[in-house]
Amino acid sequence: TSIEERQESSKGANPRVGLRKSMTQIPQALASLSLKDKVIVVTGGNSGIGKSIVEVVGSLGAKVVIDYRSHPERTEALIEEVGELGGQSIGVQADVSKLENLQHLIDTAVQTFGKIDVMVNNAGIETRTSILDTSPEDFDKVMNVNLRGVFFATQYAAKQMISQGSGGRIINISSVHEDWPMPNNTPYCVAKGGVRMLTRTAGVELAGKGVSIVNVGPGAVATPINDSTMNDPDLLAKLNAAIPIGRMAQPAEIASVVAFLAGNGASYMTATSVFADGGIMMSSPGL
Ligand code: BGC
Repeated sequence: TSIEERQESSKGANPRVGLRKSMTQIPQALASLSLKDKVIVVTGGNSGIGKSIVEVVGSLGAKVVIDYRSHPERTEALIEEVGELGGQSIGVQADVSKLENLQHLIDTAVQTFGKIDVMVNNAGIETRTSILDTSPEDFDKVMNVNLRGVFFATQYAAKQMISQGSGGRIINISSVHEDWPMPNNTPYCVAKGGVRMLTRTAGVELAGKGVSIVNVGPGAVATPINDSTMNDPDLLAKLNAAIPIGRMAQPAEIASVVAFLAGNGASYMTATSVFADGGIMMSSPGL
């Protein structure tokens, strides 16, 4: 049938009926963006992308558990800020590379708020060392935080989510470098590649148990991990030139993606990665 024929055949029908039907789903879609009363744990939550995630999800009504390793005074200030934004949060000092600390984090979240709806594995470090100059100590340090920590935080959070009956979501802050090489940052890329596969595999394993897992892969974000680049005008110009959007991201531009994924609007997403990278992975000189 041609377009004209279809228009002709729908003439008799009330054109508003279809519209009204779709409108009934709008409140549901809007509600799916709310994070009201969701309990969200954010590792590495008092700086960089993590801090922004805490601010954004706290503003959207979540009860936030801020994991941090150092600078308790920053956590205190953040808790106050979240309160001013109308949210509720607590701080827990826990090093994600230590399994007993991780368990303590999960236990404190549950003791305080009764459950965990969303676990955001955000804490991350990098050594910026090449395959040739990475020491075993460098390697272990990066793996312990960026891969082992994420693996066991996923395991502990998933066990809690399954036992509480309501399921939950795990969001891993990965990187474009889960898939895209960064020469001279080899251990970091290896760990993030591991997180890519962790999310795919554990996401499939746990899909039937009500636990979904999604990676968020940021590109270059204006946070302390990138201080050395941001403090060097030549390096920064080179980086900006490599990004199709032409600039680094602000942390809130990653946090807003996480906020969407934490809500029910992302209920059909699992075992996959979402990139917010200004197009850097697709960058091409067109030659
Ligand atoms: C890394 C940064 C890097 C950025 C873009 C991030 O995951 O931590 O060092 O600049 O990716 O390549």
